Amino acid sequence: MPIVHKFIDGEDSHKWAVRAASWGGLPKWGWNKQEYPELKFELFGRTFKNPIGLAAGFDKDGEAIVPLAKDSGFGLIEIGSVTPIPQPGNSKPRVFRLLEDEGVINRYGFNSDGVGKVQQRVRNARDYWNSQDWAYFGVNLGKNKLTEDAKLDYEIGVNYFASYCDYLVLNVSSPNTPGLRSMQKKSDLEKLLSYVKSSLDLHRLNEKRPQLFLKIAPDLIENELKDIAQVVTNKKYGIDGIIVSNTTISRPDSLQSENKAETGGLSGAPVKEISTECVRKMYSLTNGQIPIIGCGGVANGKDAYEKIRAGASLVQLYSSLVYQGFPVIGKVKRELAELLKNDGFDNVTDAIGADHRINQENRK
Ligand SMILES: Cc1cc2nc3c(=O)[nH]c(=O)nc-3n(C[C@H](O)[C@H](O)[C@H](O)COP(=O)(O)O)c2cc1C
Repeated sequence: MPIVHKFIDGEDSHKWAVRAASWGGLPKWGWNKQEYPELKFELFGRTFKNPIGLAAGFDKDGEAIVPLAKDSGFGLIEIGSVTPIPQPGNSKPRVFRLLEDEGVINRYGFNSDGVGKVQQRVRNARDYWNSQDWAYFGVNLGKNKLTEDAKLDYEIGVNYFASYCDYLVLNVSSPNTPGLRSMQKKSDLEKLLSYVKSSLDLHRLNEKRPQLFLKIAPDLIENELKDIAQVVTNKKYGIDGIIVSNTTISRPDSLQSENKAETGGLSGAPVKEISTECVRKMYSLTNGQIPIIGCGGVANGKDAYEKIRAGASLVQLYSSLVYQGFPVIGKVKRELAELLKNDGFDNVTDAIGADHRINQENRK
């Protein structure tokens, strides 16, 4: 990876990584494909081969779905964010590595091929889908920059993808689309979720309805998190899970790289603690009632384990691929299985929220 970093800029190496994956460049055997009985579990009425997933933003346009779902070793993969109308996103350069900090700042601004083209790719991929061994598959939905009534854009996304995916994500937390994050406010969120829920119900997909997740920012204050916890645990909104978290607009004092001054969302190692603390708070505020997908700075088994102990049922990563390449997937699974065994957990589900139970014991 250091050679790639020296000669190829952030966006070009991203483009080539997706291209290589789509051309079948992921190994069909080896460490990434090794699975562990400790990591196999049931959730949402299906079996997951492991809880480690690919976060949104890598395969934005669904160009490498089959190889990612079949050969990467991820237990879940997410494409997107997809916008209704194709749009170019912000001007380049818009992706920056923070080498000294193992972080990334991006301000892509939802560059997307649009729902039409992406749906065609998803449908082609789904024609091949013949095994439960393939990853759990999600589509992350965004909005066009110029759309004023955002809920209409999410409804379009739901209509295009509900029949073809295992889960849908309402992304209201990317920092690069003006006004998007304000949809995390309670009243706006309630309106959005009621609207999306009725669109999903209209699909009459109830027998095989995709799960619906909400993806939030790591920059929310306690009261905002409380409001969101109240909304997502209210059954009438039909939220099945919450992805914690997107990139941060904060810039921790510890950052060394000169790219820290770039505008955009920061991810990778510098967001790890912030998002794990957000998982911890959300798990408490929701009393562990709703599955949390922990995301932010996961680069090894210990990082994943910390998110799980803080309350995550599933874990996603993206930026560590930039620094370690695809072998990070096998490494995270191997180390996580080892950590679980060392602490006497037979299965990963037993470790979800373990930190909270220790705290309770200590208080008694
Ligand atoms: C280059 C880049 C592009 C991203 N694009 C999206 C996106 O389109 N939609 C989204 O919900 N999150 C997007 N993300 C956020 C990631 O999905 C993830 O939430 C965040 O990067 C934290 O995880 P990480 O530290 O493992 O990268 C993007 C992240 C990066 C680095």
